[in-house]
Amino acid sequence: MERMENEKPKKKVTLHLLYAVSTAVIGSLQFGYNTGVINAPEQKLRTFFHNVSLERYGEPFSSSTNTVVWSFAVAIFSVGGMIGSFSVGAMVNKFGRRKSMLLSNVLALLGGGLMGFSSLAQSFEMVIVGRLVIGVFCGLCTGLTPMYLGEISPTALRGAFGTLHQLGVVIGILVAQIFGLEVLLGSDALWPVLLALTILPAVLQSIMLPFCPESPRYLLIVLNQEEEAQKALVRLRGCEDVSDDIQEMKEEAMKMAMEKKVTIPELFRSRVYRQPIIIAIILQLSQQLSGINAVFYYSTSIFETAGVSQPIYATIGAGVVNTVFTVVSLFLVERAGRRTLHLIGLGGMAICALIMTISLALVVSANPSLNYLAIIAVFGFVASFEMGPGPIPWFIVAELFSQGPRPAAMTISGFSNWAANFLVGQGFPKLQELCGAYVFLIFMVLLILFFIFTFLLVPETKGRTFDDIAQGFAATTEKPNPSSLPEAVVVNVPDTKEPPPMSP
Ligand code: GLC
Repeated sequence: MERMENEKPKKKVTLHLLYAVSTAVIGSLQFGYNTGVINAPEQKLRTFFHNVSLERYGEPFSSSTNTVVWSFAVAIFSVGGMIGSFSVGAMVNKFGRRKSMLLSNVLALLGGGLMGFSSLAQSFEMVIVGRLVIGVFCGLCTGLTPMYLGEISPTALRGAFGTLHQLGVVIGILVAQIFGLEVLLGSDALWPVLLALTILPAVLQSIMLPFCPESPRYLLIVLNQEEEAQKALVRLRGCEDVSDDIQEMKEEAMKMAMEKKVTIPELFRSRVYRQPIIIAIILQLSQQLSGINAVFYYSTSIFETAGVSQPIYATIGAGVVNTVFTVVSLFLVERAGRRTLHLIGLGGMAICALIMTISLALVVSANPSLNYLAIIAVFGFVASFEMGPGPIPWFIVAELFSQGPRPAAMTISGFSNWAANFLVGQGFPKLQELCGAYVFLIFMVLLILFFIFTFLLVPETKGRTFDDIAQGFAATTEKPNPSSLPEAVVVNVPDTKEPPPMSP
């Protein structure tokens, strides 16, 4: 079924679609908030550990024990994230997308509750277990939200809606940075409220979710419930005629009938999936090993090194730049495409890493008037990140795979992201000790390697159906067969003027 010449790409945003998207994005906000929330109250928490140990054991923790407990509370969040992201596939296959999001909120209530009552109960263990539980919750969010968003979006808006996940994340980080100020919730008395605040969005999302439709792709392709899928689509698309969408999903379902659910080992064994799973993993690694969280976890100390007098405000400035540029990317992603934006972002980050190194090294060799250069370089680094490497890896994984392998692929790529996040979070302070002002050169080299990889191997997915993208990979690994010929797949492709390049 060819698209008519004058047919407009389907870009209608209905209230139902907007409602479902806003509900899902609360999960992204949660991930961002809990990523950013632990930094500001560091000193308060250390004092709390000190007081609890003094009361319980008659003498306070030594400063090194206190640091170990603190580092543990920080690191265990990413360990939880690895566990959560690893459970995404099993969970969505068992409960579906919507119910999985609903169930995951139980973890937010539990984790938030543990941290919120830790001070009353005089228990630092509750902070640590709470951070672990919240980490598991956030690991689930980073898989469930992009998957649901990708599956309910019209093809022509999939990138923009996917970017909304990252917008939720960055707003969450910014809110946490602001609420964490001492005058707001970052005080001695209120830090437990700051940590427990994650309960509110969880309650809100739980109230909103029952009114969202289940993903029509899940209903039709996985459960084979065509009528239900049709009902969900009519609500999301706001018109009675959803035959194009149904047709496209049916074609995907037909091709998938043979493969059903794909397990993680099968992803690596099958020649068809190997290339996209490697791309998905490397893109996630490019996000984390770009060094972005070295900035977000340690920006205050980086600005201090650069001689900035009010580092906390420079940190919030980085949060603002982060948010603004995610919005810029939101408007560009359906025009410029994923590949181009990812390349621009990686390139920009590499250049800024170099400028950061030069300015930090110059400041160290006593030229304080140049410290504004360090701030500009950090802001540029963050801005470039949000052009591509921030938003794109999260949603492109859902695009690179069809319904059968998607859950397993989200699981593996999400896990890679969290593992690399853990590595940078734990490794950066030591690297900084070893390399001093030159530490960002390591990220620069990695960024250049990721740039080359993206340039050579990542296909453009803008405006293409899931099935078309999957067929593209199949075509590069197998001889073409009649079912992969264009006629079967050019459904709903909004821009036929730009044929999708498979190998750039
Ligand atoms: C991405 C990353 C996250 C990072 C954030 C910064 O969502 O996954 O680790 O903190 O961007 O904006």
